Amino acid sequence: MDLILVDDYEALSHAGADWLAEAVQAKRDASIVLATGESPMGVYRELAERRSHGQIDASGLRVFQLDAYVGLAPDDRRSLFGWMRRSFLEPLGVSESNTVRLEGNAPDLERACRAYEDAVRQAGGFDLSILGLGPNGHLGFNEPPAPPDAPTRPVDLTAESIRSNARYWGAEDQVPRQALTCGMDLLLAAARTLLVVSGAHKHEILHRMLEGPQTPEVPASYLQSASNVTVLVDRAAWQGSSTPTP
Ligand code: F6R
Repeated sequence: MDLILVDDYEALSHAGADWLAEAVQAKRDASIVLATGESPMGVYRELAERRSHGQIDASGLRVFQLDAYVGLAPDDRRSLFGWMRRSFLEPLGVSESNTVRLEGNAPDLERACRAYEDAVRQAGGFDLSILGLGPNGHLGFNEPPAPPDAPTRPVDLTAESIRSNARYWGAEDQVPRQALTCGMDLLLAAARTLLVVSGAHKHEILHRMLEGPQTPEVPASYLQSASNVTVLVDRAAWQGSSTPTP
């Protein structure tokens, strides 16, 4: 794993945008799986800014949804597809016909997961993966314990994930209890991965995933043995406080 340590969220967003711009330049029709959540939002905003200056063309990307709450239509305000549409697809000019949803509102969830895996396989796997680190070490919604061969599947969210996602929707009872997640197997096989980690609250789990044993209890720890992983970290996450070192 490569580690890039930067001062703050703004620097993190710039460095993440550099990473992604270079990757898109190298392969304009790359297949990419994308996290929502707070961590990569600055990266997406910075990329959109660069697009508005004609510096990047991401319109050829094939975008795969990373995770989806069960039972929500794509136009529900809490839908993660809607969030991805607002934060990435629209600002970067990627048409919805170039996207693959995880259909959390499908009548047959297992079947929806198999269809998603088939689409990833047809694309030849992920060229790029942009991930955030869950406070409990999850990747996507691969909640612990998740072994490295965990497939794309429906999962029950842990109390910690429900608590942490409540900040987006106002209250814990607004957070659905189940989700579909892209499997660990597909994520760990991505050709290149950028893991974006920001904030003092990620300090402990960051060091467990980087330095601890590879264990289903910290699903992100399996990135230690995946290929071409870049961990992009701000000082607050690295040090556990937002006070800069002298
Ligand atoms: C979001 C996702 C999650 C988040 C993780 C970190 O699509 O899959 O795994 O990446 O929970 O969330 P933030 O970035 O909000 O701290």
